[in-house]
Amino acid sequence: MKAYTISKYGKQPLTLSELPIPVPTDTQVLVKINAASVNPIDLKRKHGDLRTIMATEFPLTLGHDFAGEVIQTGSDVHRFKVGDRVFGKLPDDHIGSFAEYVTVEAVNIARIPAELSDVQAAAIPLVGLTAYQALHNYLNVQPGQRVYIPAGSGGLGSLAIPIAAVLGAEVTTTASPKSVDRLKALGATTVVDYHQPNFLTQLGTFDAAFDLRGGQELTATFDHVKPGGRIVTVNGFPNRAFLKDQAITTNSKRQCGSC
Ligand SMILES: NC(=O)c1ccc[n+]([C@@H]2O[C@H](COP(=O)([O-])OP(=O)(O)OC[C@H]3O[C@@H](n4cnc5c(N)ncnc54)[C@H](OP(=O)(O)O)[C@@H]3O)[C@@H](O)[C@H]2O)c1
Repeated sequence: MKAYTISKYGKQPLTLSELPIPVPTDTQVLVKINAASVNPIDLKRKHGDLRTIMATEFPLTLGHDFAGEVIQTGSDVHRFKVGDRVFGKLPDDHIGSFAEYVTVEAVNIARIPAELSDVQAAAIPLVGLTAYQALHNYLNVQPGQRVYIPAGSGGLGSLAIPIAAVLGAEVTTTASPKSVDRLKALGATTVVDYHQPNFLTQLGTFDAAFDLRGGQELTATFDHVKPGGRIVTVNGFPNRAFLKDQAITTNSKRQCGSC
């Protein structure tokens, strides 16, 4: 099969390689990929930005999200059959959706709803799971709460806003003026233009924030969340406590360059 691979970290183009079609284990399915989406993490993996927390063996086939068709099932897989249209996100230690075929654990896929094309379905898993995990599992967003989601016009924000709205939140986001109508249609109550000076002073206070920006904008967000409120960020740098939690030590193969 054809697959887009890298054999080292860097900004060089991907290599179009010829690889064997993988064989599913008893609990996996083999999927013929019809669509794969590109997320910022694919570039970060390619450039080596995540080498401290994600081990990589080269050559590496990139790509997390996919949509396609089941063409073979492992002997213990009963929820899916050959021909099913499925989509999913590959685990961090088994990525590779920029290829013609991929094996994936059956627990990591779902059937594609009939109203979605393969291209639409492939755009959902990583951003959808990230947004759901942040808003539901960690922020525990409740009806009537005010939630701040900066940078709402990107791939992640475009799913985070409707998920927060469905959970009953009143959503404030930041974006360029061209995106205001689209973000309001997705469920945002207030859209603030982040190009304006001091735009943060227009925001008021929030019960929770899902930060997609990091850096100084994350720091400033702390002044806009009520005491006892929560902030989840997808752009913080891992600290020593995180690495300890992940069992990554300064002596391990997955060495922390900043410790
Ligand atoms: N994709 C995921 O599932 C995922 C998971 C974990 C972490 N992340 C991280 O989350 C971040 C966002 O991901 P994404 O997929 O949504 O990225 P994206 O699709 O590239 O969207 C980024 C958006 O940010 C907006 N933007 C740029 N500068 C801004 C600013 N100063 N204030 C507010 N908005 C600004 C731009 O909006 P305008 O066009 O309106 O200017 C752009 O549409 C990335 O750093 C990514 O690594 C993503």
